[in-house]
Amino acid sequence: MSKKFWKNKQILITGIDGFVGSNLAKRLTGLGANVSGIIQKKKNSLLYFESIHKKCKLFKGEITNKSFIQNIINKNNFEIVFHLAAQVEVGVANKSPYKTWESNIRGTYTLLDSFNKNKKIKSIIVASSDKSYGSYPKQDLPYKENYSSRAIFPYDVSKACADMITKTYSSSLFNLPIITTRFANIYGPGQLHFSALIPDLVRSIIKNIPFIPRGDGKDIRDYVYIEDIIDLYLLLSSKLYKNKNLKGEIFNAGTNQPLTIKQIVKKIYNFKRKKKELDIILKKMKNKKTTGEIKYQFMDFSKLYKYFKWKPKFSFDETIQEVYDWYFNYLSNNK
Ligand SMILES: NC(=O)c1ccc[n+]([C@@H]2O[C@H](COP(=O)([O-])OP(=O)(O)OC[C@H]3O[C@@H](n4cnc5c(N)ncnc54)[C@H](O)[C@@H]3O)[C@@H](O)[C@H]2O)c1
Repeated sequence: MSKKFWKNKQILITGIDGFVGSNLAKRLTGLGANVSGIIQKKKNSLLYFESIHKKCKLFKGEITNKSFIQNIINKNNFEIVFHLAAQVEVGVANKSPYKTWESNIRGTYTLLDSFNKNKKIKSIIVASSDKSYGSYPKQDLPYKENYSSRAIFPYDVSKACADMITKTYSSSLFNLPIITTRFANIYGPGQLHFSALIPDLVRSIIKNIPFIPRGDGKDIRDYVYIEDIIDLYLLLSSKLYKNKNLKGEIFNAGTNQPLTIKQIVKKIYNFKRKKKELDIILKKMKNKKTTGEIKYQFMDFSKLYKYFKWKPKFSFDETIQEVYDWYFNYLSNNK
C-alpha cells in the first residue's frame, strides 16, 4: 500500500480513544496524516498511554449531538472518515439497551447526515460487526455479506439498525461514499474492556485473580489481530477514495480459524503454564449457561480476497506473547 497516499490527508476518527481508534490513529499519524478524533470523555486508553493524542486534534462531545458534529465538519476539510464510536460491551447493552441504541443508532445517522451533501468527503468507513448478522445455525457459517440480519439481542440489533441506515445514505438517494465493515472479534494491544475474553484472561493471569467463565466454553468465536484490522481499514478506505463504485459494499473479515472459548482459555493458560488454575476454570465451565449472546460466530475473508487479495498475516498463537507483554506493561503502569 502506498504510504504517500496518507500524507497530509484530513481524517476524522469517531471513537478515536477506543481500542481500534487508538491503533488506527497511531498508524495514520505515523504515515503523516492529519488526524482528528471525537472523544466522549477522557479515559484510560492506548491513545494517551502511548502519547498518540499529542499528534491528533481531539474534539470532546457526544456523537449523537448534531450541532457539535456539524460544527466540527464545517470547520475542517475532512476527506476520509472512520466511524468507530459505539457502545460495544454486550453485557452493558443487555442491561441498558437505550444507551447503546442512542450511541450506535442515533450516533450513526447523526454522523452520516452531517456529511450529507458534503462536497469534500471521499471515503467513509462504518464499523459494523459480525454481531449484526445475529444467530445462524453452525452449518450456515461462516457468515456471508449477503445474509440478512437475524439480530435479537440489543448490541446486535444496534449494529443491524446502523447497517440499514448506512445502506440508505450510500444508496443513489444520498450517494455518500461508504463501505461497511463486519469484522469478527478483534484482539491486541489497547483493548481495555476487561469484560472481553482475551483481556479478562490475560489480566487474571498477570494479577493472579480467578477467571470467571460466562458459559460452558463451547461457544465458537473468531479472533482477528488488531494489526490485520488496521491494514484492512487503510486498504478499504484508500480503495473507496479512489473508486466511488465501491460505495455500499460490505466486507466481512475473520481468520477462517474459528476457536471455541474453551480452546482460547486453554491456549492462554497453557502459554503461561498455569495448569492448576486452568483445571479450576474448566471445572467451573461445566454446564454453565449464558443468555444474551450468540452461540456460533465466525467469518471468512473470501470476498476481501476476491476483491483485493487480502488475507490475515497474524495467527493467534504467534501473537500471544506480544499481547501478554503489552498487558503486563500496561497493568504495571496502571495499578
Ligand atoms: N473490538 C472488536 O472486537 C470489534 C469487532 C467488530 C466490530 N467492532 C466495532 O468497531 C468499533 C470500535 O470498537 P472498539 O473495540 O474500538 O470499541 P471501544 O469501546 O474501545 O471504542 C469505542 C469508542 O466509542 C466511544 N463512544 C461510545 N459512545 C459514544 C458517544 N455517544 N459519543 C462519542 N463517543 C462514543 C467510546 O468512548 C469509545 O472510545 C465499534 O463500532 C465496534 O462495534 C469492534
